[in-house]
Amino acid sequence: MLLALSSCGGGSNNQLNQNNATSDTSAAAPATSTAPAGPDLVIDMSPANIAAGKGTYEVTCAPCHGANGKGDGPAAAALNPKPRDHTNGAYMNKLTNQHIFDVIKGGGAQFGYPGMPAQPQLADDTVKNVIAFVRSLAQNPPYTPPATASK
Ligand code: HEC
Repeated sequence: MLLALSSCGGGSNNQLNQNNATSDTSAAAPATSTAPAGPDLVIDMSPANIAAGKGTYEVTCAPCHGANGKGDGPAAAALNPKPRDHTNGAYMNKLTNQHIFDVIKGGGAQFGYPGMPAQPQLADDTVKNVIAFVRSLAQNPPYTPPATASK
């Protein structure tokens, strides 16, 4: 789409182009701040998946991470370190989907936090829905799925 614009620049419009260059916050710029490098596990964050993930989360994760994901579930008091606050977008958005998947399926011990138990009984699609829900909790900033350039 952007290519269509290039035919009218000519060269006589330098001033206009410079103005554009300095103020350009192009939507086409890669989202280096949040998107992980390389291909990541693709999570479909449709409302239906988020709702399904919420159901699993309330049973399996909320006792520690809290119903709202703030890391303040009833079981959290006994844990050190405390369960991660999923509403902390500044932290959570840096985690790849694959990492969250591995943490849920395989537990936190492999990454140095054994307080987070493995849930190998959850089907892959169930885990993906839980990730969709967990992603939906992030604030400041909220989670933005990486542009899916059909991989
Ligand atoms: C028994 C309590 C407990 C349960 C149940 C639990 N967690 Fe955790 N979780 C923890 C603790 C403790 C940590 C480690 C906090 C830290 O040091 O980062 C953690 C960390 C995490 C992290 C952060 C990983 C990282 O690299 O920072 C994610 C994501 C997570 N849990 C998701 C979940 C999800 C999703 C579920 C449900 C499927 C779940 N947890 C169930 C206790 C729990």
